[in-house]
Amino acid sequence: MEVERVQAVASALMTAETIPTDFIRPEKERPAITTYQGPAPDIPTIDLSLPDRDSVVRAIAKASEEWGIFQVVNHGIPAELISRLQVAGKHFFDLPAEEKEAYAKPPGSQSVEGYGTRVSKDVNGKRTWNDHLFHKVWPPSTINYRFWPTNPPNYREVNEEYTKHMREVVDKLFLCLSLGLDLEESAMREAVGGEELQYNLKINYYPPCPRPDLALGVAAHTDLSTLTILVPNDVPGLQVLKDGRWIDAKYIPNALIVHIGDQIEILSNGLYKAVHHRSTVNKERARMSWPVFLEPPEERVVGPLPQLLSPESPPKYKAKKFKDYMYCKLNKLPQ
Ligand code: OGA
Ligand code: NI
Repeated sequence: MEVERVQAVASALMTAETIPTDFIRPEKERPAITTYQGPAPDIPTIDLSLPDRDSVVRAIAKASEEWGIFQVVNHGIPAELISRLQVAGKHFFDLPAEEKEAYAKPPGSQSVEGYGTRVSKDVNGKRTWNDHLFHKVWPPSTINYRFWPTNPPNYREVNEEYTKHMREVVDKLFLCLSLGLDLEESAMREAVGGEELQYNLKINYYPPCPRPDLALGVAAHTDLSTLTILVPNDVPGLQVLKDGRWIDAKYIPNALIVHIGDQIEILSNGLYKAVHHRSTVNKERARMSWPVFLEPPEERVVGPLPQLLSPESPPKYKAKKFKDYMYCKLNKLPQ
């Protein structure tokens, strides 16, 4: 086994009182020190089934301007399907190490696909308490089933069904985000690739951690996607930065958590904000989450929409190919 999995580190530490220094975040990042303790507003929750479309559009636009994140309920994805998705993903992470390694991201691969663990340390020289599985789920031409677990046997069926429902939610969200800026209803969706928009599923696995006060599951970041649509399990951990404070996301069973990513911030010329977020970990229980990153095709040029520009509102971002944006972000180069 070439890559050290956090799940193995965690198992070896079950009764320990500390964690390897590689995982101990500097004080300015430690959740025990930096989580806001006062009364804080909740991330907005939006009911997608309300018949008054204008009020849904306004609520989504306001949340995207002020928070860059919101939860949606009554979104049309059946609760039992979400639950089957979660059971299938958990089944994979509960498999013996050798079985999971069959899906490992190939060494040197340029793609994110596969079972992985971030080993390159970040700017602080620190690691995060997370293993994950990444694979594309849409469009069909981009899918590589080599990275889809065959155990449990219903993994494929469940993920295909989830994706089918997800696509309807995504279309609705892009429509609302467009109308919220007084654009044609198809403007955003077309700008991010239309039918070629890619759906990349990640399953995050954050093993129990003896010192959740010192570690992070994922460090603070914005997603480089257009939107990210995430379902968590019932172990809390997602935090968002709002007005300079780290606030816990409330767990709402069966809600989808919609993150505005960098590409929507760019298209909207900064009217919608990409949210800074991170994940903490739990002492007793494994936290899991299932984000779907919606990404433009690599060659698609993304820049501020011309309809939103004027002499008073000049472009705040460069237009560039999504692959070039990704390269700069991943290598921490200026955009
Ligand atoms: C991510 C992420 C947060 C979570 O994987 O990009 O931000 O709640 N995950 O797991
Ligand atoms: Ni993220």
